[in-house]
Amino acid sequence: MNQVAPVNDFSEIISADRAHVWHHLTQHKAHETTDPRIMVEGKGMRVWDATGREHLDAVSGGVWTVNVGYGRDTIGQAISDQVTKMNFFAQNNGSVPGALFAQKLIERMPGMSRVYYVNSGSEANEKAFKMVRQIAQKRYGGQKYKILYRERDYHGSTISTISAGGQFERNAHYGPYTPGFVEVPHCLEYRAQWDVENYGQRAADAIDEVILREGPETVGALCLETVTAGGGVITPPEGYWQRVQEICRKYDILLHLDEVVCGIGRTGKWFGYQHYGIQPDLVTMAKGVASGYAAIACLVTTEKVFEMFKDASDPMGHFRDISTYGGCTGGPAAALENMRIIEEEGLLENTLAMGERLMGNLRELQERHAAIGDVRGLGLFCGAELVADRETKEPAPEAKVQAVIAECMAQGVIIGATARAIPGFNNTLCLAPALIATAEDIDAITAAIDVALTRVFG
Ligand SMILES: Cc1ncc(COP(=O)(O)O)c(C=O)c1O
Repeated sequence: MNQVAPVNDFSEIISADRAHVWHHLTQHKAHETTDPRIMVEGKGMRVWDATGREHLDAVSGGVWTVNVGYGRDTIGQAISDQVTKMNFFAQNNGSVPGALFAQKLIERMPGMSRVYYVNSGSEANEKAFKMVRQIAQKRYGGQKYKILYRERDYHGSTISTISAGGQFERNAHYGPYTPGFVEVPHCLEYRAQWDVENYGQRAADAIDEVILREGPETVGALCLETVTAGGGVITPPEGYWQRVQEICRKYDILLHLDEVVCGIGRTGKWFGYQHYGIQPDLVTMAKGVASGYAAIACLVTTEKVFEMFKDASDPMGHFRDISTYGGCTGGPAAALENMRIIEEEGLLENTLAMGERLMGNLRELQERHAAIGDVRGLGLFCGAELVADRETKEPAPEAKVQAVIAECMAQGVIIGATARAIPGFNNTLCLAPALIATAEDIDAITAAIDVALTRVFG
């Protein structure tokens, strides 16, 4: 990567940041002796930090968000035009971009019907939980209140979303948790929990077992990531989703899919679940909705779910919930332009093609590096699980995984990994480049990983 001269003197900014900003997920002791990294500019797949250093970003803003890449002036313009005309009004009213984006989104989600605007993935999931609880109160005498979540999945940072979180290290220290959330086993076949042929069916049947143990009459919803992201890029085994859908239908349990990462093109279709021919009741999405140009997230429901909140004879019958910034119009304005870009630039097709290239490159690395135990992915959403021993599948220690990331960073390539999430299993490298990635970008990313693996594992 090129070392470019700083475009500006950012020393005051760095001092202000060091003195006053509390960074997310950060042990600040380190910043007593080192400067925080401050990103100052982005274009396409690349970002520049305050020292002038260029980075190729293989994780779309660190957390799989910037799907259409950096520096999109048409999105900036769409936001500017909208907010100077009408920036905000509480969402118990409508807005022009809100109506238009909802229509376009629903056109791309057959079987779905209604869009509820909020501003983060955690919030979208919270709203879904509230709907499930209200349905339980209204229709089932409060009985069908439990929400099942899966080991290794993540649904957000609030107390209730961590109560639905299957990543122990993210939840630790924040109890007591919200009651009524129950864990089901993960479906990662590489870490198989059952010695069977039809693994997908078996992993789904494990959910059935939990439902029977809890009592189907007490279970209101099953909340799952379509492809688990931070928990290790876990693609579902064959047959899993069809069986999960059957189980939900059998017991009248709402299927809530968390597509905060998968949604809006990341997997090469508009939504991850569209690869599996299933029909959810609730879908939450956030990161790719406006590619990080504005804070917008959506909870999308079927008309059937929506209808349950239309009992006008009950003054408490509607969804009595609000999100102040769900009324910001910059979000849907950005989302509309984001969607136009994905469509007109053929980014879903590019994602499928580049995703295959990325998987192919990772498999090729796996042949040469014993440290790669497993490679998984769907579209531009890939993971490589690192092991200390390929035979025993003993996970590589987190420190070594972090060293691989640091070695990539030293070469100017930003990659991610499961970090402080699952005890003993923070060993998956995560890759989610923007949907605009070219073959050269993909090859540059895997070339850096190749060098990094050699440096760290020999
Ligand atoms: C699958 C999934 N759901 C929910 C969230 C929470 O989203 P947010 O950070 O916008 O609250 C995340 C964030 O990484 C996520 O990966």
